[in-house]
Amino acid sequence: MCGIVGAVAQRDVSPILLEGLKRLEYRGYDSAGLAIVDNENVIQRIRVLGKVNQLQQEHDNSPLSGGTGIAHTRWATHGKPSVSNAHPHICREKIALVHNGIIENHESLRQQQKQAGFEFKSETDTEVVVNGIYQALQINPDILEAVFETITRLEGAYALGVINSDDPKRLIAVRKGSPLVIGIGIGEYFIASDVFALLPVTQRFIFLEEGDVADIRRDSLVIYDKNRKVTERPINVSELSADVADKAGYRHYMLKEIFSQPDAIAESLKNRVDEDQVVISEFGQNAESVFSQVKAVKIVACGTSYHAGLIAAGWMEEIANISCHVEIASEFRYRKSVVTESTLFVCISQSGETADTLAALQKAKQEPYISTLAICNVAESTITRESELVFLTHAGPEIGVASTKAFTTQLVALFLLVIAIGRNNGVSKEDENIFVRQLESLPGRVNQLLLHKDEIEAMAKNFADKHHALFLGRGSFLPVAMEGALKLKEISYIHAEAYAAGELKHGPLALVDKDMPVVAVAPNNHLLEKLKSNLQEVQAREGKLFIFADKNSEVEASDSVVVLKISTIYDFMAPILYTVPLQLLAYYVAVIKGADIDQPRNLAKSVTVE
Ligand code: F6R
Repeated sequence: MCGIVGAVAQRDVSPILLEGLKRLEYRGYDSAGLAIVDNENVIQRIRVLGKVNQLQQEHDNSPLSGGTGIAHTRWATHGKPSVSNAHPHICREKIALVHNGIIENHESLRQQQKQAGFEFKSETDTEVVVNGIYQALQINPDILEAVFETITRLEGAYALGVINSDDPKRLIAVRKGSPLVIGIGIGEYFIASDVFALLPVTQRFIFLEEGDVADIRRDSLVIYDKNRKVTERPINVSELSADVADKAGYRHYMLKEIFSQPDAIAESLKNRVDEDQVVISEFGQNAESVFSQVKAVKIVACGTSYHAGLIAAGWMEEIANISCHVEIASEFRYRKSVVTESTLFVCISQSGETADTLAALQKAKQEPYISTLAICNVAESTITRESELVFLTHAGPEIGVASTKAFTTQLVALFLLVIAIGRNNGVSKEDENIFVRQLESLPGRVNQLLLHKDEIEAMAKNFADKHHALFLGRGSFLPVAMEGALKLKEISYIHAEAYAAGELKHGPLALVDKDMPVVAVAPNNHLLEKLKSNLQEVQAREGKLFIFADKNSEVEASDSVVVLKISTIYDFMAPILYTVPLQLLAYYVAVIKGADIDQPRNLAKSVTVE
């Protein structure tokens, strides 16, 4: 993970780098640093253990100034978070480098460089790269050639930004396995891990491709492809505005994002349905023909996106009569699996950069799937570019590390997919009309549910002193419970587990006592009575229940039961709706606990390492 920014300009680039880092902090935030070539052509560096705000403070105390610089916000992989492990790394005061990714063969390179007399000042995998460039420069004094020479020895994934005090108006950028964009200014250029970091300075971007190396000066940009041939890459004009990073008066991005779900869902449906029918071409030009041949679906994703896949699998089998299997990307990528005839491969990723999901997609492209489809929130991401079919969720940028609006819009996208595939498998025009109208009613339904925020906040007080929580659901609501448990653990640090309610008596019931809050999701469906029996088992063991129940489900509050009543919704849409109070519950528990909600410890938004 980690975020990198760089700039070559006439003006002082330090404010641009610091602002860029703040916007990239979702990628990692355990330490940060920047390096600038000053007016005497000396590389000056500041690094801190902690967040970009601390770097800003250090910088305010002793500012750096210069026209060429690089900066980094870190999510530790090799070496603990510390000042000495923070980037930029510098070799012999000549070369400074920032890196996002992992150098897999760093151990052997380190041994070779130690023998060549290099002293290591960090525990990172990155330091071998900056040393390697320095070594190569002793043979060929051109920084571009030195970078070319060095990367031939690297194994792994890396986006790099490199500056050289002997060639101070030049920045070299490399992209292999980790994202990197170039921002185009007027007489100035920038690099960053994503466009978001550079929106205050430009709207014009070039997305580097795998293996590209860019030689950047104030007034020129030359891009070399993986075969070292000069190449042209298209310029894209972003429609995002710089203030998308604004909290809009909310205390946290996560809360803003939870409350923006009605709009995000509406945006994700806009132009995707027409006269109560799904516009299948929104999945890609070829989608209609591919979908008409699909006999099975394989879904692969990580974390919250995986939970969206699990819910979709239930819909796919029940509504579209199509066999659907869901798998965690980090498992799928290393497993031999059998591809049945006419299977569509679907990967789900908010960021479109998750390393495991990307590797799974690359594996799938080598296998006899009928096609690959990405459901993604970032238009220019690697996963969307690598996939044959693409459906973009229009959730808008999600900044809080815990995924909320991305999840509910993924579910909307997946429901549209189920209808589209179902058209050839028993979903009638009338069914489709009903489904589409139900989807269109969702923004209003979510808005109504958000009005219950105070009740959920009150409920949250019961969790703040607890160390564990159980989440129960059945059928499509098991993944909803899993998502609720994931939200609680990642932002409040309370250990939370989700179970199929029917599994309780097969083990986890042993955990239940008065200190174990048990959360249950209880829509009014064919499994309600079964669920109620499972909840009786909890009550009999003095477990305190927190139930999100349909208002007609006849689940009543008592001393040991807290109930939030939810108005009745069509069963297939209910997983989308019932997710929202669980997001709010996790949020308010984390607020009470004073946790760092938008940037929980040890996590990062975009998991671009394995
Ligand atoms: C949890 C969360 C993560 C992500 C996972 C996959 O709130 O956000 O579990 O869902 O890291 O990320 P994407 O969807 O970007 O592939």
